[in-house]
Amino acid sequence: MTALTLSTAAAPGLRADAIVIGVAKDTSARSQGLVVAPGAEAVDKAYDGRLAGVLETLGASGAEGEVTKLPAPSGFKAPLVVAVGLGAQPEKDAAFDAEALRRAAGVAARTLAGAKKAAFALPLSEAADAGAVGEGVLLGAYSFNAYKEQGGAKAKNGKAPLAEATLLGGKPRDKAYKAAVERAAAVAEELNRARDLVNTPPNDLNPEAFAAVAQAAAKEHGIKVQVLDEKALTKGGYGGILGVGAGSAAGPRLVKLSYTSSKATKSLAFVGKGITYDSGGISLKPAGHNETMKCDMAGAAAVFAAVVAAARLGLEVNVTGWLALAENMPSGSATRPGDVLRMYSGKTVEVLNTDAEGRLVLADALWAASQEKPDAIIDVATLTGAMMLALGSRTYGVMANDDAFRAAVHEAAEEVGEPAWPMPLPEHLRKGMDSATADIANMGERMGGGLVAGLFLREFVGEGIAWAHLDIAGPAFNEGGAFGYTPKGGTGTAVRTLVRVAELAAAGDLG
Ligand code: BES
Ligand code: MN
Ligand code: ZN
Repeated sequence: MTALTLSTAAAPGLRADAIVIGVAKDTSARSQGLVVAPGAEAVDKAYDGRLAGVLETLGASGAEGEVTKLPAPSGFKAPLVVAVGLGAQPEKDAAFDAEALRRAAGVAARTLAGAKKAAFALPLSEAADAGAVGEGVLLGAYSFNAYKEQGGAKAKNGKAPLAEATLLGGKPRDKAYKAAVERAAAVAEELNRARDLVNTPPNDLNPEAFAAVAQAAAKEHGIKVQVLDEKALTKGGYGGILGVGAGSAAGPRLVKLSYTSSKATKSLAFVGKGITYDSGGISLKPAGHNETMKCDMAGAAAVFAAVVAAARLGLEVNVTGWLALAENMPSGSATRPGDVLRMYSGKTVEVLNTDAEGRLVLADALWAASQEKPDAIIDVATLTGAMMLALGSRTYGVMANDDAFRAAVHEAAEEVGEPAWPMPLPEHLRKGMDSATADIANMGERMGGGLVAGLFLREFVGEGIAWAHLDIAGPAFNEGGAFGYTPKGGTGTAVRTLVRVAELAAAGDLG
């Protein structure tokens, strides 16, 4: 991954492939032009204070996502200046918001793929801004080239990521700045690992392989890990996970990752949907709906990354991650529509549609998590197409059994720049899942399908435990082009929300 450093060096003498500066739209009444953001003073000076005009001549406007390249002024060691748009300039005296910095840094880092070193001269008004720029750089520089054999990382459409980034204008000896950059590196590195897992093709990442990756990482970071294989799941009565995995030649797993801090006073459980491939099972998905279904383990990947990040950051909170891993395939041994499963909780479920498999594996994992009576549980799942219809492909839905907890999780998401929106769990939708044969069916009314799924999950959360459900079906996998610090493919959504929630819990600030 890209190496990140803080530096007090002056831009002109810096040996780098490029200097990145910020530009914004001046929305004040006086002028309507472009302004050069703070941090780029030395560059502007070398252009005799005419940099804004030069950029406007080149067509720059300061709009978010915009990149303008120009040759560096004479006297500069770096050959190139990359001006990246920050959007509207903030009100007088206000600083640029963290998400604008993160996105601009991400765009610049992606633009600089193939380069060795870049200096970022973006506006840093406090330590947190250095963290935001650092995070944006590391997330924006990400690319997945593991399967491009032709030239490997140097393949034509797979340039090596920017190798080194130096943040100018920060305070390398200031504790807060150092901590912010270290936090950014830990979170971004683990988030990028979650992206790798999502992008890895399903023939290489089955439940067993995912569990092995989790075991190795747990060992590296002092996290306790326990893997239940088919035998253990059968013995334990995990009918949901077993039922979903029954059709696959690759057996299911339940992975438990326990990070504990000696200073913890709170405990959190994160539960992730880990369907390494969702074919739909006997209720087979048609062509056109299965090409991206390797992403159906994005919830488990996010949970895994968040637990490892919490351990790396040494957060003073206990965090247990539950990865419910299975491959949903049709075969002679697969669960049929009409089958009844006896779940880990003891409840019976009539499977009316084998493509509603996520809620089945999650139900067992939620019940397992509940047995330890954590202060709160958050599950993360690419659960329903209905949530994508409701919120689009960039926003995830937040449901909960407690309004205050839902608001706290939503707020944490906003804070870290992960678009999310609260959704209700309307009681009247529960009766649609009544089953003539079993305690509940895994399908209900079609309308409000994302909320129906949430209501199903709620039945498997232990009494009195605060629980939130993040349906990330929309933002987990970006089928469009890269934007901001978000690449094509696996995005790592929800990792930063979970880490933020863990930080809040550690600080005693979570509800
Ligand atoms: N994994 C899918 C949901 C999904 C769809 C995620 C598109 C990402 C992109 C899930 O298992 C599923 O198939 N859900 C069904 C539920 C239905 C059968 C009740 C759906 O949403 O259609
Ligand atoms: Mn499905
Ligand atoms: Zn699924």
